[in-house]
Amino acid sequence: MARVFVTRSIPNRGLDLLAKAGITIEMYEKDEAIPQKELGKRLLGCDAVVSLLSDTLDAEMMDAAGPNLKLIANYAVGYDNVDVEAAKKRGIVVTNTPVPEASEAVADHAFALLIALAHRIVESDAYARAEKYKGWSPDLLVGADVHGKTLGVIGAGRIGLALATRAVKGFGMRCLYSDRQKNPTFEEVCGGLFTPFSNVLKESDFISLHVPLLPTTRHLISTAEFALMKKSAFLINTARGPIVDEKALLRALKTGRIAGAGLDVFECEPAIDCDLTDTLELKSFPNVILTPHTASATVETRDAMSRLVAENIIAVLGGKPAISPV
Ligand code: DGY
Repeated sequence: MARVFVTRSIPNRGLDLLAKAGITIEMYEKDEAIPQKELGKRLLGCDAVVSLLSDTLDAEMMDAAGPNLKLIANYAVGYDNVDVEAAKKRGIVVTNTPVPEASEAVADHAFALLIALAHRIVESDAYARAEKYKGWSPDLLVGADVHGKTLGVIGAGRIGLALATRAVKGFGMRCLYSDRQKNPTFEEVCGGLFTPFSNVLKESDFISLHVPLLPTTRHLISTAEFALMKKSAFLINTARGPIVDEKALLRALKTGRIAGAGLDVFECEPAIDCDLTDTLELKSFPNVILTPHTASATVETRDAMSRLVAENIIAVLGGKPAISPV
């Protein structure tokens, strides 16, 4: 009987499919990220593993699993936690979960951060809760317009397109985008304008990141890039933390180089700040909104991710091609 190790509990939808297919499921018992050492032990002899973005699936882990391991089914769209080259060398298939629900959920979350930054929603809520509101005043918590402003999308994939569509069609924004190449579908659907990366940084009022974490995108946004942005610009990151150089971001915030940031991901995740000895902390800025990597955390998305993980396992262990190989 095929054995699958699941590193942390996922919604039943996929687990039920696996059980129905006669696959034995073993799961890490604790509701926390599995320590790497424990993961290596538990993988031994498994045919497949369902991994999370917080698990590192490197060559060492693959060797610890042994020759039975045929599939790493990553329960995430991003797969920077998996050494895909090492997997390829060992004939192990890697899959991810690019379900349409995830694109829409992450785009919703990115847009929620955008509006919340512009309208200073979190600051206003804190102000009201603290009973500081003593009467209407023309300059109380004044924010920025969204309508008519320019959204810069870095990475015109599914999530970038879903965000741009909301911005242009729903909120009357203009959209600029940069990517490795022009994307005619992106332009057709939301009227986004393909322009060099530096131009997106210079002209946008809101800049949202939608590229995968690769060696080429690590610190894609650092001091030089902040220097190009408008002082009134907001940066939104729902992709991966290390795409933004946290130190450079802290400096940009401290010096007023940008107007604020909405962050769902962090360079040293799960730590919000990399340097805990530093007094300059992301959470000290009122113009920064922090969410704990929950952009895709909707019931529908998690359910769809679980289903796709199971469908990939059933396909690959049944000798068929993976549904969403990376
Ligand atoms: C992903 O899918 O990559 C998200 O970051 C987590 O769901």
